[in-house]
Amino acid sequence: MKNDFFTYQAQTTPHPLAMEISHADGSYIYDTNQKAYLDFVAGVSACSLGHKHPRVVNAIKVQLDQYLHVMVYGEYIQKSAVELTKLLAAHLPNPLEKTYLTNSGTEAIEGAMKLAKRYTGRSELIAAKHAYHGNTQGAMSVMGFEERKSAFRPLLPDVRFIEFNKEADLEKITTKTAGVILETIQGGAGFIEPKNNYLANVKKRCEEVGALLILDEIQPGFGRTGTLFGFQNYNVVPDIVVMGKGMGGGMPVGAFTASAELMDSLHDHPKLGHITTFGGHPVIAAACLATLEEITESDLMAQTLEKEKLFRELLQHKYIEEIRGKGLMLSLIVKNSDIANQIILESQEEGLILFWLLFEPKAVRITPPLTISEEEIRKGCDIIMKVLRKMED
Ligand SMILES: Cc1ncc(COP(=O)(O)O)c(C=O)c1O
Repeated sequence: MKNDFFTYQAQTTPHPLAMEISHADGSYIYDTNQKAYLDFVAGVSACSLGHKHPRVVNAIKVQLDQYLHVMVYGEYIQKSAVELTKLLAAHLPNPLEKTYLTNSGTEAIEGAMKLAKRYTGRSELIAAKHAYHGNTQGAMSVMGFEERKSAFRPLLPDVRFIEFNKEADLEKITTKTAGVILETIQGGAGFIEPKNNYLANVKKRCEEVGALLILDEIQPGFGRTGTLFGFQNYNVVPDIVVMGKGMGGGMPVGAFTASAELMDSLHDHPKLGHITTFGGHPVIAAACLATLEEITESDLMAQTLEKEKLFRELLQHKYIEEIRGKGLMLSLIVKNSDIANQIILESQEEGLILFWLLFEPKAVRITPPLTISEEEIRKGCDIIMKVLRKMED
């Protein structure tokens, strides 16, 4: 299987971890030698309810017995998609009401950027340095990391960059700007939180010049930071919110939500302002609905903040310079990238899954399922501390 993996499946790094998966359940993934790995990564923040959550699996099975794909996006009334978008509206602040469902995060970002251009009639997009919004060419155009994008130029014209958390840069947002796109908490950059009312000030500036604020909640959204969406921690309501990852409870999805007034600009002059064949797929929507119900009906979101405290209490070592992030979106910032690599690789040997962040080589990602237990947190942190102590010798 390993040979075939390297021969036939396209690789995008020279060194994939290449663990061969047998099955996964709760907070554990099992390899084909039946070794159990405690999962502190959750498929990079995607498996919000752990692996094979019964409520999600059951919703998928029920939908499988009814119908699979029947029609392109938006033509037929399909119950799971309608109920999902309605429940999202119930949990989002006004005026965020109408949701467009896509197959992935990057596709939702494309839709959100198009919506900003379509609604304002302007073309300029402003994004943040070190931002990550996905890997299709539009999303890559607003990625703030030249090293990974220069080989793919030319990308979208009319994109400008500001520094996240730098108020002085807000004057670059002008009457030419269609939209400002920011991650609520910068992920790839190292889990950097907005400071001093920054996002509210960005929104104020957008309002002054008639630009739209797009917040990318693909990673922090769906309960990971103690509220359903990260922006609810920071005194701001975006014009467009983009979601994905944890929304699907382990299934592939993306979505963007805006007011009816904004969103309705996609259905006329020209009509079909955004098209997808599979977006809103009934099986995926059923999984998302079950995930959203579980997150909002349980006390998982409140527990997230208690679990953050436990991580911060247990992970103290001279090699850990800082723990960044919020809730269960945490990153250890260690002295250098060698230490980060060693922690990740040796923890895997010890049965704990950790991972890197895209643009910050000194970071170790900790984004476990929201369902992780206190006992599992203690067990995983013991492994990290053991690895760190071994490195001191
Ligand atoms: C903040 C953010 N935006 C967008 C994306 C892209 O989502 P997807 O990989 O589902 O296209 C990601 C994925 O890592 C992300 O973390």
